[in-house]
Amino acid sequence: MNNFKKQCLASKLSPISDELLDLSRQALAVNNGNIPKWEAAINEIKSQPKGNIDYQAPYLTIHHAQDNNIEALQQSLKLLMPWRKGPYQIGDLPLDSEWRGDLKWDRVLPHIQPLKGKTVLDVGSGNGYFTYLMALAGAEIALGVEPFLLFNYQFQAIQTLINNPPNAFVLPLKLEQIPEKPLFDTVFSMGVLYHQKDHLLHLQQLKTVLAEGGELILETLIIDEKYGEQIIPQERYAKMRNVWCLPSTNTLHTWLKKAGFKTIKLVDVTKTTPEEQRATHWIGDNTQSLKDFLDPNNDHLTIEGLPAPKRAIFVCQK
Ligand SMILES: C[S@@+](CC[C@H](N)C(=O)[O-])C[C@H]1O[C@@H](n2cnc3c(N)ncnc32)[C@H](O)[C@@H]1O
Repeated sequence: MNNFKKQCLASKLSPISDELLDLSRQALAVNNGNIPKWEAAINEIKSQPKGNIDYQAPYLTIHHAQDNNIEALQQSLKLLMPWRKGPYQIGDLPLDSEWRGDLKWDRVLPHIQPLKGKTVLDVGSGNGYFTYLMALAGAEIALGVEPFLLFNYQFQAIQTLINNPPNAFVLPLKLEQIPEKPLFDTVFSMGVLYHQKDHLLHLQQLKTVLAEGGELILETLIIDEKYGEQIIPQERYAKMRNVWCLPSTNTLHTWLKKAGFKTIKLVDVTKTTPEEQRATHWIGDNTQSLKDFLDPNNDHLTIEGLPAPKRAIFVCQK
């Protein structure tokens, strides 16, 4: 967090840095029985050699000048399972996460304003795979916020292995905890909207933290128009308990307009494939992934009989 404070003070986030750090300390002070295990993993990882990071699709790659102890490293990183987002390559060790994040990045990057010199917010950053990509794309500072503590520890594990880490940070916060100041030039909300009980509130909060003229990149699950304006799953969706809304792209366009965004562009619609989301040995004991969430006889439907996961990317301005 020291690095974060230093980098923050040199950025537009200086006025909110103390508040972000106070809130983060409070979030980390919770009584979570897994923390000793996660701390032990990070302590072991500290004894591994560090290397420079770059992006060699699909991997965020950490190059090692010296050999690392692959077995010990793998064992420690596995204490931090499940690894949903990635993939990473650490020296000779490939960390093949459940998701091929590079495929989403390929769909996003051609459509957004250059990140060079920008103050960037990555809402629901997971372990920071995309946050690193944003920093490596030249952001002055890329701040990920992720309330799920394990993913914060995963970020820390990766950061521990990097020499001169880029200006990417992940804090254990929710979007709603970010001070309501328009400080970010680019805000990403990817894979987060469908987890919100109040989708319009989420869109308004994204707008509040976005600078005038800034850009929002919104990626979320959608349905084809033939299924209606939106589906509100009665129970689970693709075995997930916390999915609240699946709008059509027209409906989502209207929501963005209602929230006050301008020049709203739909830049991509892609069905999620087993190439992008699949079980690997980095996801732990629960080895289910996309293919287990779909109807075994019809991959256009989920196991619950709803339309199979399809994602849209909207880019719009404040
Ligand atoms: C499906 S993951 C998406 C991760 C990554 N952004 C991606 O696109 O692959 C959604 C993440 O958003 C986080 N999340 C949910 N509600 C949030 C909120 N209100 N503020 C910040 N993060 C949130 C969850 O903990 C989860 O890790």
